[in-house]
Amino acid sequence: MTRHLLTGAELDRDELGALLDRADALKAEPLSSRALEGRSIALIFEMHSTRTRLSFEAGIFELGGQPVVLRRDELQLSRGESVADTARVLSRHMAAIGVRTGPDEMLDELAEFASVPVFNMLTARHHPCQALADLMTLREEFGRLAGLKLAYVGDGNNVARSLALLGAIAGVEVAIASPAEYTLTDAHGATLTTQPAEAVAGAHAVYADVWVSMGDEDSAVERRELLAPYRLDDALLDRAAPGAIALHCLPAHPGEEVTAAMLYGPRQRIWEQAENRRHAQKALLELLVRSEGRHADNV
Ligand code: CP
Repeated sequence: MTRHLLTGAELDRDELGALLDRADALKAEPLSSRALEGRSIALIFEMHSTRTRLSFEAGIFELGGQPVVLRRDELQLSRGESVADTARVLSRHMAAIGVRTGPDEMLDELAEFASVPVFNMLTARHHPCQALADLMTLREEFGRLAGLKLAYVGDGNNVARSLALLGAIAGVEVAIASPAEYTLTDAHGATLTTQPAEAVAGAHAVYADVWVSMGDEDSAVERRELLAPYRLDDALLDRAAPGAIALHCLPAHPGEEVTAAMLYGPRQRIWEQAENRRHAQKALLELLVRSEGRHADNV
């Protein structure tokens, strides 16, 4: 059975724990695995990326594989070839397919017709690979996940949703503070509030993301106004548990959703979090490609 990672809900708590254990081992010895020896992994980018592209390309190379980066404008997809046929052809050459796109429906259709694993490198609703690195970073800092509280302050976007979803699987209590206009539409067990102070009370980590995500540029002015009270700064982190850390998925806009003092200061683990993308995703690729199968129905 081909396994995909479309939202993160495909993992149970034991699998997630094992994946994070593996990520820790790969971080300790980055060149210890040749799990992708002789294999090629397609990375389809329909939107901008720095971290996701770098971490997947470098990680696949470290695992002995070859990343094949494909932009939409380079594919026949942009000239009318169907998603289904693109999936069928990619499956004949690639060991797995990563996609960064807008609509989740495109990712779902690709997974339906692919006979190799498909993984989500960011869609409008989900960013599970980011959440894997976030959980790895939390566990590194606190030595456990179950019983921790993570507060997210800002736009109720794909990052917030993935933190809620994967946090629930891991046993992390997630609280999300957003303006009513930009609240998360599906809580996945997270506590939703409009009050940043309420969300961060007792939190072990406070997490920020950009106020204007890709595709939200039309509402940039309104977002900056409504999200201004949700800035992650020292005063907000002081309201969290003693020893709480600051997280941010990046890219950051210092002075908007996070202060420069926080972004570059001693209370953050943001740059570690950015590095952990590579380790967590390598563990994910090992898991997905190991379970690879062929669906005769789809070809
Ligand atoms: N956090 C994240 O996904 O970064 P990029 O958009 O640079 O890939």
